[in-house]
Amino acid sequence: MDGLVQGKVAVITGAGSGLGRAAVLLFCEHGAKVVAADINDANAEETAKMAQAAGGDAVAIGCDVADPASVDAAVAKAVEAFGRLDIIYNNAGITVNPIPGKGLKSLVDCEPEEMKRVEDVNINGVIYGSQAAIRQFEKQAEAGQGSGGAIVSTASVAGLMGYGGVLYGTTKGAVVQFTRALAIEVAGKGIRVNAVCPAGMLTHYAGMDPDSEHKDRILESMGKAHPLGKAIEPRDTASAALFLCSDLASNITGVNLPVDGGLFAGRKTGA
Ligand SMILES: NC(=O)c1ccc[n+]([C@@H]2O[C@H](COP(=O)([O-])OP(=O)(O)OC[C@H]3O[C@@H](n4cnc5c(N)ncnc54)[C@H](O)[C@@H]3O)[C@@H](O)[C@H]2O)c1
Repeated sequence: MDGLVQGKVAVITGAGSGLGRAAVLLFCEHGAKVVAADINDANAEETAKMAQAAGGDAVAIGCDVADPASVDAAVAKAVEAFGRLDIIYNNAGITVNPIPGKGLKSLVDCEPEEMKRVEDVNINGVIYGSQAAIRQFEKQAEAGQGSGGAIVSTASVAGLMGYGGVLYGTTKGAVVQFTRALAIEVAGKGIRVNAVCPAGMLTHYAGMDPDSEHKDRILESMGKAHPLGKAIEPRDTASAALFLCSDLASNITGVNLPVDGGLFAGRKTGA
């Protein structure tokens, strides 16, 4: 049986760790040819090797999503390696450095330089990735190589409600609104634009350690925050992104899909 993105060519950013790595592996399992892009070249390479070892078709590239030329190079790599582009998954994202032992910084404690970097990666990185993909989709359409394409970004439940730090939530809120506005702008070209909004996942994000000896306890405590009672795994979120990139979602655009165990739905009366 064909996979959900059989034969499609995807660029996935932030592919060296956590959600991005899970997405590369899952998209490859479902038949995609993937460029694994990450600012950490060695980790991107390791992800591509993991996908290849599992029988997938993946190549790696070092890429800083805050640099438009670097993002253009990742799309060019897809064309060079696999002949075209069908999907970009703008997943790379960071937050302000947490204070060890104290957790997330308050807004008033954030330094201008670190705030600018978070904005550049989380907002401009998504914008540059989408611009590069749209230009390539349009080139393909003009050349009679098929119209349209899929853009998916990783926002967060922090972009839908107050959660997980002010500056970070503000950047993810920008991704949520960007997703809606861009979806309208490019709908006529057959380009679909969606985002996934995960709740907390145990990755290297915000200084967490997915290999921690306390992993089970952390996952249990993360799960308790959600009505469904389970922690969100990177593969859960990658699955939502896969669906949104697949033809099963061919009439879905402009949505910001929570992957949050019911967190955003609300809570029981009196709970
Ligand atoms: N982990 C969570 O709790 C959580 C919750 C909601 C949303 N998110 C979002 O999920 C996405 C993936 O994060 P994760 O949890 O897998 O964290 P992670 O730290 O494990 O992975 C992020 C990856 O992005 C890469 N990266 C960082 N800056 C980059 C840049 N400028 N260009 C290219 N790559 C860059 C890192 O090298 C790393 O490999 C992010 O957008 C994050 O904001 C995470």
